[in-house]
Amino acid sequence: MSAIVVMGTQWGDEGKGKIVDYLAEQADVVARYQGGNNAGHTVVVKGKEFKLHLLPSGILYKGKTCVIGNGVVIDPGVLLTEIKGMHDKGFSTEGLKISNRAQVIMPYHRLIDAEEENYRGEHKIGTTKRGIGPCYMDKNSRCGIRMVDLMDAEEFSAKLKRNIEAKNHLLKEIYGVEGFDFETVKKEYLGYADELRPYIADTSAALNKSIKAGQKVLFEGAQATMLDLDHGTYPYVTSSNPIAGGVCVGAGIGPTKISNVIGVVKAYTTRVGEGPFPTELFDEMGDHIRESGHEYGTTTGRPRRCGWLDACVVKYAVDLSGIDYMAITRLDILDQVKTLKICVAYKHNGIVIDEFPASLKVLAEVEPVYEELAGWECDTTTIREYADLPLNARLYLERLSEVAGAALGIVSVGPGRDQTIIMHEMFK
Ligand code: GDP
Ligand code: IMO
Ligand code: MG
Repeated sequence: MSAIVVMGTQWGDEGKGKIVDYLAEQADVVARYQGGNNAGHTVVVKGKEFKLHLLPSGILYKGKTCVIGNGVVIDPGVLLTEIKGMHDKGFSTEGLKISNRAQVIMPYHRLIDAEEENYRGEHKIGTTKRGIGPCYMDKNSRCGIRMVDLMDAEEFSAKLKRNIEAKNHLLKEIYGVEGFDFETVKKEYLGYADELRPYIADTSAALNKSIKAGQKVLFEGAQATMLDLDHGTYPYVTSSNPIAGGVCVGAGIGPTKISNVIGVVKAYTTRVGEGPFPTELFDEMGDHIRESGHEYGTTTGRPRRCGWLDACVVKYAVDLSGIDYMAITRLDILDQVKTLKICVAYKHNGIVIDEFPASLKVLAEVEPVYEELAGWECDTTTIREYADLPLNARLYLERLSEVAGAALGIVSVGPGRDQTIIMHEMFK
């Protein structure tokens, strides 16, 4: 049995797409289990860049099954554009399976997302405005529309009618904006239904069948631990559960089926959107990381906030998801830094605290306890063996591993598939 989870340990954009694409070569199935097109996963193959939002990063290989699980929220227009984009580039989507239980993002979700952000004013979350939160809200309040409903014109029309009436009322009375025309939305979405129909399946059943048949399954997380609805920096989080536990719910497999959890860790820390970030840098070093690392959002193009590596965050992620191996990415971005800092603990009111603070007030007040490590000041992008990395780079990685409590499994020194150092074979 070999089902492995690749998930983010920080605030997203760790390079999950690159690691999933690398491991997907050996996998039979690649499956997304949460999030939606708020995700932006960049994969570079032979110098060509692919930006994926909903399609699993296994789509760039021939013959893989790619699953969009029940826990994902799907904007059908966006998904179809992504599918067509892949066809135009000569890739097949024949192996794509979309869960019949996945929730559908509607135009009112996108508008409510934007209006709610305006309404929050200075307390805005900084969402991607893709309608993610409002779609999960409807799922939880049990008025959401699932793929299975969209496939049935009668069922869809009835649900849409009820929802549009309620949402138009909300949009007009609370936000003071025009709502949507039922017939127009119905026509648009029933058009999507026809195009998506061939891909719709019971993906939980398909995944369990694959696992029973001994196939290799890779679960691809979107967002990350600190954006997890339950465990992240609430309310500055997304509306799903990116942690490894989210796989069971969002893909419909049992916890006993997961063999390994790989936590993807960027060699420093970034965050897009609002909320506390203890190791954030506001100086030249922050600018250096942003510019040399081209730290601008894949989905929204916003500049990412940059900071030192926070091992407290990674340790928290290791515990929450039972991470056994870490995949460290973007080590090369630190190649020219003279002195590096790792945050190994937090102090609050002068006292080292053991647990990751639930209170955002406390998190905003913590003082990072830094250890300084000498940089390696040389190019790592062509290195392919761990032993060939400069000693200072190894010391940096090993200190992270020690504080976080998980082994080093992969080190990535560039966006390309080949720029990968493997220390542990993930698929047995
Ligand atoms: P994801 O959302 O976690 O998949 O990450 P993103 O794709 O949003 O951002 C990661 C960026 O880093 C992408 O542009 C990747 O191509 C790139 N990347 C991944 N690994 C490495 C690496 O080791 N070095 C460098 N320089 N870039 C990397
Ligand atoms: P990947 O998969 C980084 C952030 C948004 C915002 C918060 C809530 O590429 O790592 P949402 O639209 O989800 O309601 O926004 O979450 N966010 C991400 N940040 N990477 C992502 O995905 C993100 N997806 C959402 O910026 O702060
Ligand atoms: Mg991203």
